[in-house]
Amino acid sequence: MFGGFVFLTIFAFPNSHTMSKRTLITAALPYANGPVHIGHLAGCYLPSDIYARYLRMRGDDVVFVCGSDEHGVPITIKARNEGISPQEVVDRYHALMKKAFDGLGISFDVYSRTSSKAHRETASDFFKTLYDKGVFEERITEQYFDESANQFLADRYITGTCPKCNAEGAYGDQCESCGASLSSTDLINPVSTLSGGKPVLKSTKNWFLPLQNHQSSLESFISQKKGDWKTNVYGQCMSWLKQGLQPRAMTRDLNWGVPVPVNDAEGKVLYVWFDAPIGYITATKELLGDRWEDYWKGDDARIVHFIGKDNIVFHCIIFPAMLMAHGGFNLPDNVPANEFLNLEGRKISTSRNWAVWLHEYIEDFPDRQDELRYVLTSIAPETSDSEFTWSDFQARVNNELVAILGNLVNRVMVLYHKYFDGETTDAIASFNDIRHNTVIEEAYESVASHIEGYRFKQGLIAAMEVARHGNRYLTETEPWKLFKTDRDGTRIILNDCLLLINQIRVLLNPFMPHTSQRLSNLLNVNDSMGATWKHDLTIPASHKLNTPSLLFSKVDDTAIEKQKSKLEKEDATGPDENQRTHSPIKDEISFEDFKKLDIRIGKILRAEKVKKADKLLKLTVDVGVREVTLVSGISEHYKAEDLPGQYATVLLNLQPRKIRGVLSQGMILMVKSDKGKLSFLQADDAVSEGDMIG
Ligand code: MF3
Ligand code: ZN
Repeated sequence: MFGGFVFLTIFAFPNSHTMSKRTLITAALPYANGPVHIGHLAGCYLPSDIYARYLRMRGDDVVFVCGSDEHGVPITIKARNEGISPQEVVDRYHALMKKAFDGLGISFDVYSRTSSKAHRETASDFFKTLYDKGVFEERITEQYFDESANQFLADRYITGTCPKCNAEGAYGDQCESCGASLSSTDLINPVSTLSGGKPVLKSTKNWFLPLQNHQSSLESFISQKKGDWKTNVYGQCMSWLKQGLQPRAMTRDLNWGVPVPVNDAEGKVLYVWFDAPIGYITATKELLGDRWEDYWKGDDARIVHFIGKDNIVFHCIIFPAMLMAHGGFNLPDNVPANEFLNLEGRKISTSRNWAVWLHEYIEDFPDRQDELRYVLTSIAPETSDSEFTWSDFQARVNNELVAILGNLVNRVMVLYHKYFDGETTDAIASFNDIRHNTVIEEAYESVASHIEGYRFKQGLIAAMEVARHGNRYLTETEPWKLFKTDRDGTRIILNDCLLLINQIRVLLNPFMPHTSQRLSNLLNVNDSMGATWKHDLTIPASHKLNTPSLLFSKVDDTAIEKQKSKLEKEDATGPDENQRTHSPIKDEISFEDFKKLDIRIGKILRAEKVKKADKLLKLTVDVGVREVTLVSGISEHYKAEDLPGQYATVLLNLQPRKIRGVLSQGMILMVKSDKGKLSFLQADDAVSEGDMIG
């Protein structure tokens, strides 16, 4: 049924790629106050790397820049907590992050840093240009000052109650509960985290960028992007614009950063969000010298910023306003921001150690970079928040990479060696079964258009579809059966499979470069070809394939268990003591007020669940003078049957209140840990019911 000769088909693929422009790709400069985790990777560094690799394969003129963001208050907090200098902090994390990115195959053309002398100059010059043009407004404002620490307090050094959602422990710049961006004077009951004291307001001069002057230019810039930019990005920009832009301080009273390059600015540095995006320029200069301008100012150049969603306003509004005020720069062509990746049901948190760190993954899973790249791209938070779990990681590696891609490659390699000694006869220049042409044609079209549209997840699915197709083809043709009767026919089938694998090697290259390289090795073909986005890849005559070896191996349960328990252990160590966010101290009360409280020891006699209320227990408590009924939200922390006999502290004269139909005659006072765990308040000596507290 299969002809004994090979059709030579000339491929004529429509070219979806119309932008062979010069492209500057930037990936958000990560803060050098902690290592990089999978959330960063999925949200920013993998998508940008896939994009950069793809454009390079298409032959575009691409520059891909990144570096460490080494200024900003969190770094000073970290340094303070560890008793070292900010420079020591950033040196440590800069090295760690650079190595981790390298380990994962993130192909930055340059990985720069913002504490360098070169950056200080670039950022200073930029500021000076705006200053000389009279762009800034000088403003005297009242800033919080910690008198005992004798310094102005950056927003991050102040916590308090969020005015928007009432959550406690909101920072002076942002509430992590509701995401609102705040200014520290908005906080209710502000507290200095330096001393725990109440900060006072003090006057200080700073330089403000009057964003409102750019309102209409920004509006027309952003509205042109409708339909082109992702809806989450466009929507966030529009809502900022709708609120009306306000002047924003571009300098801060802080001793870590780029010094403000004007007279009379001692003790002041550039705002980190002023200097950090200029870090992209510094990096480009570091890479290209004088040619940097081609990528930032050229008519034929476009800029694409890859970021996480918390960076949108800075890249779409503030940085463009800075660039416009300066003049001569291109504005970003696109800002494909991603949402957030959660981990095992919870928000990733650096301070709580709830994360999978890249440098640890590399250590625990050596040579398995592409497994992580594959899984993170498959679950990338492109349009909404998504979640990483270790069991899902295992399932995707085992059921997709091993069972589909690995299986196809292994079967073909093994059969080719078994039947034909791993050597071709004629050159394999095109498919025998022309159905493959359509599959390959569609795959190139689809992968290209998804990557160009920043839909990397879809792009990866489309590339993997070719491997699925290859497996179906093998199942359908069963060359292992055919070989007994038709040796030539078998070779023709396996030749088609080799060509398919050769195409997969190219199609998957942007996503899984290490795997692509391994496929090149197996096929014994020149890898530089694999780095070109082209599809008529010929395998030469009398060509020897390399010995089969497994492309992927299964991730076993032990490895997954190990990762899960590591996560639990990390979490159990809890947040760094100094990074705890304490609720602010409440308003002062008089001794008379205090005396009104009737607090005593009670002994729990009975406990039962409250119907249709998962968290509540109904407790009968002996408080010495009488028995009372109390409803308490502790059932997630204590089992009803364990409670009789337990002593508890009871606020007895709280106005009785009906909770889920049960009248509660007071309140059990519980200690709430930072992680939300409730426990009983205990005396350190024997007590009995009715003992008073006060
Ligand atoms: N360091 C910032 C963050 O991690 C990102 C800075 S991006 C830059 O959120 F544009 F400012 F460089
Ligand atoms: Zn809030």
